[in-house]
Amino acid sequence: MKISKRFANVGDSSTLKITALAKSMKNKGTDVAILAAGEPDFDTPNEIKESAIKAIKDGFTGYTPVRGVPELLELICEKFKNDNNIEYKNENIIVSTGAKQSIYNVLQALCDEESEVIILAPFWVSYLEMIKMTGATPVIVDTSLDNFKLNAKRIEEKITSRTRMIIINSPNNPTGVVYTEKELREFSDVVVKHGIYCISDEIYEKIIYSPHKHYSIASFNPQIKDLTFTVNGLSKTYAMTGWRIGFLGGEKRLVEKTLMVQTHSTSCTSSISQKAAIAALKTSPEVAGRMISEFGKRREFVIDYMKNVENVNFIEPMGAFYLFMDFRKIIDENKSRFENSESVCTKLLEEYNVAVIPGGAFGAEGWLRISYAASLDEIKKGLSRIHDFVKRYT
Ligand SMILES: Cc1ncc(COP(=O)(O)O)c(C=O)c1O
Repeated sequence: MKISKRFANVGDSSTLKITALAKSMKNKGTDVAILAAGEPDFDTPNEIKESAIKAIKDGFTGYTPVRGVPELLELICEKFKNDNNIEYKNENIIVSTGAKQSIYNVLQALCDEESEVIILAPFWVSYLEMIKMTGATPVIVDTSLDNFKLNAKRIEEKITSRTRMIIINSPNNPTGVVYTEKELREFSDVVVKHGIYCISDEIYEKIIYSPHKHYSIASFNPQIKDLTFTVNGLSKTYAMTGWRIGFLGGEKRLVEKTLMVQTHSTSCTSSISQKAAIAALKTSPEVAGRMISEFGKRREFVIDYMKNVENVNFIEPMGAFYLFMDFRKIIDENKSRFENSESVCTKLLEEYNVAVIPGGAFGAEGWLRISYAASLDEIKKGLSRIHDFVKRYT
């Protein structure tokens, strides 16, 4: 087999792998509690589905402009203005097949083999692999030294003449941490000082718990705005993971180049999904709000439950729908049984029938991530099995 050098070191997505394995166990009749996927368990709201059905019936089924239909671009500009205090025009926007493609397009357009791209560990699994796919070198900053927060000084220490870009993600997957305005302003000053680009992945923007607030760095000043790609999408907020709608806003000339990647690889995202996206962005805030308040209740439950589980510390999520748990003590005390967080997850899945994601995949060995984007029953079942495991091995 001959594969490209760029792909030789690209790994799988352990999130998707474990979820697929857990689902296949479930299909075969095993009662698995799946707390693995980063996917809302809700159905897409009806008015959004109806608008897609109408698009099909109306024959809105051809190619659209690559960057997206004008009505959707205008709604995205409005969203950026109203929610994020960023002024973009249609020419600053690209709609893609998920936020994942938005991020990939930018990396492809802007990175060379000599480039370094800084990511903050723990990181969303795909950042690392996407950077490798461009041929660039990932440079990792360990945020565990700073309570998983954004430390501008520590990031600045990693900047070299080869640094092309930095990716940040708040609210964060997998930690649930939300960066404060002060942290983000200090960070953006460093980005501007060194003239590097930034991807701000804001996909969990709306899933945030009081008193925490979301800030978009592109709103701070014109300099950081021109260096930043603000990435967002509808997957998480509107339970639309399968519709594949993500988007970005950025400086016009950089966005033109980024658009070329999409033009020559996938063209527009689905015309039908774009109609659904228009409907989603027009829904009243209560539609997403209902789902978000449900995540809030589950979060309370998960935090209360885990506070009673001895020997496992965790980060109280400020946003998103994940709980990141520290299993280092258990792994340390059971070295002969568990080599790392992946072997803990394998044990949890195969013997305790609960699917969670190993922290190693996020660059945080010894930690485990659960997703509480699952029904309360599933969460209760899963947590009690994790508790049984912890009792057994401490
Ligand atoms: C941090 C982060 N960014 C981006 C995405 C991609 O979302 P999508 O491609 O579905 O829009 C995800 C999905 O899990 C994510 O967790």
